[in-house]
Amino acid sequence: MSARILIVDDDGQHQAAVAEMVSSLGYIADTASDGEEALEKIGAAEADAIVTDLLMPRLDGFQLLRTLLERGDLTPAIVLTGFGSMEQALSIVHGLQAFWFLEKPVQRGVLATLLERAVRQKQLLNQAERLHRQLSGQGRLMDLVGSSPPMRQVYSFIQQVAPSSASVLITGESGTGKELVATALHRLSPRADHPFVAINCAALPETLIESELFGHEKGSFTDALERRAGCFEQAHQGSLLLDEIGEMPLATQAKFLRILEEARVRRVGGAVEIPVDVRVIVSTSRNLEALVRENRFREDLFYRLNVIRIALPPLRHRKEDIPALVDALIRDLNRRHACRVADVHPAAMAQLMQYHWPGNIRELRNIVERALIVAHQGALLPSHLPRGFPSPETHAAPPAPKAGLTLRLEPGGPLRDVENAYIQLTLKLTRNNKRRAAEILGISVRTLHNRLAQIAAGSRQDHHSEPVAAGVAENGGK
Ligand SMILES: Nc1ncnc2c1ncn2[C@@H]1O[C@H](COP(=O)(O)OP(=O)(O)OP(=O)(O)O)[C@@H](O)[C@H]1O
Ligand SMILES: [Mg+2]
Repeated sequence: MSARILIVDDDGQHQAAVAEMVSSLGYIADTASDGEEALEKIGAAEADAIVTDLLMPRLDGFQLLRTLLERGDLTPAIVLTGFGSMEQALSIVHGLQAFWFLEKPVQRGVLATLLERAVRQKQLLNQAERLHRQLSGQGRLMDLVGSSPPMRQVYSFIQQVAPSSASVLITGESGTGKELVATALHRLSPRADHPFVAINCAALPETLIESELFGHEKGSFTDALERRAGCFEQAHQGSLLLDEIGEMPLATQAKFLRILEEARVRRVGGAVEIPVDVRVIVSTSRNLEALVRENRFREDLFYRLNVIRIALPPLRHRKEDIPALVDALIRDLNRRHACRVADVHPAAMAQLMQYHWPGNIRELRNIVERALIVAHQGALLPSHLPRGFPSPETHAAPPAPKAGLTLRLEPGGPLRDVENAYIQLTLKLTRNNKRRAAEILGISVRTLHNRLAQIAAGSRQDHHSEPVAAGVAENGGK
């Protein structure tokens, strides 16, 4: 079937002349008199290439290209230029990602070559998209494995939203693949050839987070020995993942929201605003709605981010994916550890299927990795799994407090004291394993550290006062 070329020009005579040339080259020519009509036509039937004038009423060529870019529409566009400035023409090609430019009056030979290439590019893009779709139908998308209905839904949603530049919120428990989804979004987007920058808001102390995100000028604070570009600048034209967004300090949230709205960033200690073109992806394992209710997350920022949301299911809700995941993990880990494990014994697989996987795929990976190293080659047997796996205690989602550790509550004091006591109790339960304790409490390790520091400061202050409303009681409160 012939390719369809859309010619956008407000000058009727010129439009007709180009259309005739296009038809004589064997393409189907379609026409529009401005950007708005062009968008309507593209909406009704996809074009294989666009030839567009720049100066037009209503929606001009610049706005048309910008709109297509924002929508993630990758139809190659050839821009007609009348002003003969090579520099300006190149800046359009570069900035608005036009396919190429064509000087007026249009020469048939040049148009023929450009159209041939543009149409070929569009065909390749379509082919790549079909392949992605096919693969996702087989239960894979980029590095994501699993063909359960919730994962298929995730894949099709990723494919839908990847081409646009709109920000995306990814939610899901720890280890469910939020980072993999963020990478897939980037790699399937028109930004794929530009940087993907990831930053974890929970891993940075409050004092450093703004300089990491926004950059800083030399001398803006004690440690700022050199001027430094922040993540936004580093991710220019690419994508930026802000992991654990729930841990972003409130003051930083306000600045972040401004950048989202204005697409400009000001370095710490800087006077000028630098324009940035970044697709923002945020992720969290926390319940952001709850954080909003507790005034720990800005409501306006939440609404701004919650427009496109990808919620990843926990592994226990899609256990049918475990065999495919284990298979993919074994192939990857064999390579990493120079092992030759061929398959998994049905009894071992049954054990893997039984478990509740609170740590999701990250935990599955750890267990498979350990077993694979032990087995080294042949089949993965139940004896290669950790002893007692899956132990009864690991079946329950949130680990139940063990006997001997209970919280004694006596109403009449501040809520903060109950929380503090509960934090201390959880630390005891995990034998002071702060990472695990933070996981159980549903807070970040950084928040846990902050709370412990506050508790320590508080206890230094009320050294002599009696513990009030709540306290940790061991051995059933005795
Ligand atoms: N669908 C999947 N298919 C294959 N591997 C996966 C999948 N989901 C996650 N993984 C693997 O599990 C591990 C954890 O994934 P990832 O880091 O993306 O999780 P996360 O949700 O960002 O976790 P956290 O909240 O703890 O940061 C990685 O090794 C990743 O490769
Ligand atoms: Mg992560």
